[in-house]
Amino acid sequence: MSFETLLIEKATAADNIIKDYLPDVSGEQSIIMDAMHYAIEAGGKRLRPILMYETYKLFGGDKSEVIKPFMAAIEMIHTYSLVHDDLPAMDNDDLRRGKPTTHKVYGEAMGILAGDALLNYAFETMLKSYQNLHFSDDVKDIYYNIMRAMQILGVKSGIYGMLGGQVSDVQNTGLFPGKIELDDMYEKKTAALLEASMMIGAVLAGANVEEIKEVREIASNLGMAFQVRDDILDVTSDEATLGKPIGSDAKNEKTTYVTLFGLEEAKRWAKTYSDKALSGLKRLSGDTTFLEELFEYLIERNY
Ligand code: IPE
Ligand code: IPE
Ligand code: MG
Ligand code: MG
Ligand code: MG
Repeated sequence: MSFETLLIEKATAADNIIKDYLPDVSGEQSIIMDAMHYAIEAGGKRLRPILMYETYKLFGGDKSEVIKPFMAAIEMIHTYSLVHDDLPAMDNDDLRRGKPTTHKVYGEAMGILAGDALLNYAFETMLKSYQNLHFSDDVKDIYYNIMRAMQILGVKSGIYGMLGGQVSDVQNTGLFPGKIELDDMYEKKTAALLEASMMIGAVLAGANVEEIKEVREIASNLGMAFQVRDDILDVTSDEATLGKPIGSDAKNEKTTYVTLFGLEEAKRWAKTYSDKALSGLKRLSGDTTFLEELFEYLIERNY
């Protein structure tokens, strides 16, 4: 099977898992569930759940009832970050995943609440990983690993992770941060959630501390490459392919790898970070073929 076909298969599998965990649309406040469905079902690459699942398998994980809630939860948190990122007070963008942004369809107040709802529901969802496990000596370690996974997701999405990076992004808007400041921002706003994805996969599969450290380093480099590629696509892609507006960064006076280094050097940086991620990946034991192909695909991606 070709890599592309395999990737579509894996994204579809992730899609189905995420949809399984979304709340029913019902009750007096059903508009909020409706908006949550809208933001998630608009699409997206599902990169984070795929990374999580592949890392889980790499370290020998075999309990789908434990990993699935985390796959859904991280996509909910990522989607919430996009819903809020697009709000008028943030990047003020009208298109996401090829559809009008959530606040454009449901209004600004519901856009804010839909983001909040996805964030809160992510935590409700990951707790479901305990649902099918009855505490016994056999699952004692799994209980402990689930707790560590929840801690990782909390920290990596919060003020020391993605949210902190978005704060830095807002603070630096209109200013001219240098590479050191920009790298710190990217590490938090983008790499942190990719780290959480891979680290949670590893932790839930029972990887050891050293392995988890290596996985974090790999995902950190992948995250940097991923955000630099995102900066590049903001100038080189087209709206129909990308599914979001082109030129959003320039409109918002953002410093990016493209404004800082120019297009060609930004491409070289993406490759440098990606190569570091790849060599780390190759040092892990187990079959990393799909992940290697995924990393290579991501720095060439057009959306
Ligand atoms: C977009 O993330 C925001 C960044 C961190 C660059 P993705 O490019 O993963 O967005 P979707 O999930 O595919 O829509
Ligand atoms: C956002 O970075 C990263 C998030 C945590 C949402 P961008 O603002 O560049 O993401 P896009 O380009 O809108 O997807
Ligand atoms: Mg932004
Ligand atoms: Mg944006
Ligand atoms: Mg961007």
